[in-house]
Amino acid sequence: KKVVLAYSGGLDTSIILKWLQNTYGCEVVTFTADLGQGEEVEPARKKAEALGIKDIFIEDVREEFVRDYVFPMFRSNALYEGVYLLGTSIARPLIAKRQIEIAQETGADAVCHGATGKGNDQVRFELGYYALKPDIRVIAPWREWELNSRTSLIQYAEANGIEVPASKKSGEAPYSMDANLLHISYEGNILEDPWAAPEEDMFTRSVSPENAPDVPTSVEIEFEQGDPVAIDGVYLSPAAMLTKLNELGGANGIGRSDIVESRFIGMKSRGVYETPGGTILLQARRAMESICLDRGQMHLKDELMPKYAELLYNGFWWSPEREMLQAAIDDTQKFVSGVVRLKLYKGNVMVTGRKSKYSLYDEEVVTFEEDSVYDQKDAQGFIKLQALRLRTLAQSRYLSKD
Ligand code: ARG
Ligand code: SIN
Repeated sequence: KKVVLAYSGGLDTSIILKWLQNTYGCEVVTFTADLGQGEEVEPARKKAEALGIKDIFIEDVREEFVRDYVFPMFRSNALYEGVYLLGTSIARPLIAKRQIEIAQETGADAVCHGATGKGNDQVRFELGYYALKPDIRVIAPWREWELNSRTSLIQYAEANGIEVPASKKSGEAPYSMDANLLHISYEGNILEDPWAAPEEDMFTRSVSPENAPDVPTSVEIEFEQGDPVAIDGVYLSPAAMLTKLNELGGANGIGRSDIVESRFIGMKSRGVYETPGGTILLQARRAMESICLDRGQMHLKDELMPKYAELLYNGFWWSPEREMLQAAIDDTQKFVSGVVRLKLYKGNVMVTGRKSKYSLYDEEVVTFEEDSVYDQKDAQGFIKLQALRLRTLAQSRYLSKD
């Protein structure tokens, strides 16, 4: 009877809105989130009103997004398949959570999203919905309707009085894009050929490294318990921090990546991403951890990382195993506080210094000069015992006379 739609205000979700009314005769509640995608969200109100919507939710969730989702994820140094910074994956759980909360508030019995039946996003939204409200009804129009071509979508829009922007009328397939404060993604169009190089005019968040300034930018990032809190001594809120890092990275050609990734559904897909601030943050965090974390703690954490990244990619944010890993990861961050200095230059992030009051780096111990705390003779027995099994093996396999 009532459904909460994740509504961007764009053409596709406007068609979904109308389709829900036409197909189910139900009341639609819209939810539009400002996640830092860089587009105004207010226009969504007028569009929803024009389609007869009474309950319209438009919310700025940027601080919550960065504080409660992006930063916790970064504490793990998450990378999926070695490259992807999970910019889309990490936004879905927040949208799903708000949709469910709005469903409770407005007495809706269903939720709806605009992800296709081929991708990861449908899984991420729906695992979130079910984890938070097991009896929710889920509507995924792309898996139900017959509007499976651009032409039929546009015909449906025109027949239902939805305004179609001129740019959408031309036959050319658009990029499938998803944007928030952490990243923007591009899929489809010419990128469907994994050999085709992206065109320069596709990019929106970064200059190309070759067009970046010839002078490096130096910055100092301060961390408290694993999260960045200040740049060059200026304290910033989580969303302001990521915004600032995006500016610095974008201006220096940092954070582009072009990958073929393994979707949860089973297929490979090619995506191009711009994650300028996140790319800087990952490098800076690693440098901070290099002096603040014990080796055993760091190496075990590094083993957990691919598992954590895969959970997020596959949509299991709201799962007990993600929470379990998060608790372990968060525990390691208690002493990850200090300052990292970086040089940003033509697509590169170079660490030039790090300091912390909890630093485990001991100049007195490591020095090449004379010291009074370390006895080099101790290393002899250490190595001898480490070598015991290697010597036994070599002795018995290769050196024994017969
Ligand atoms: N392939 C990336 C992922 O699975 C990005 C998906 C972008 N989503 C979109 N609806 N355009 O996380
Ligand atoms: C989609 O919206 O279905 C495409 C991208 C994805 O979910 O992986």
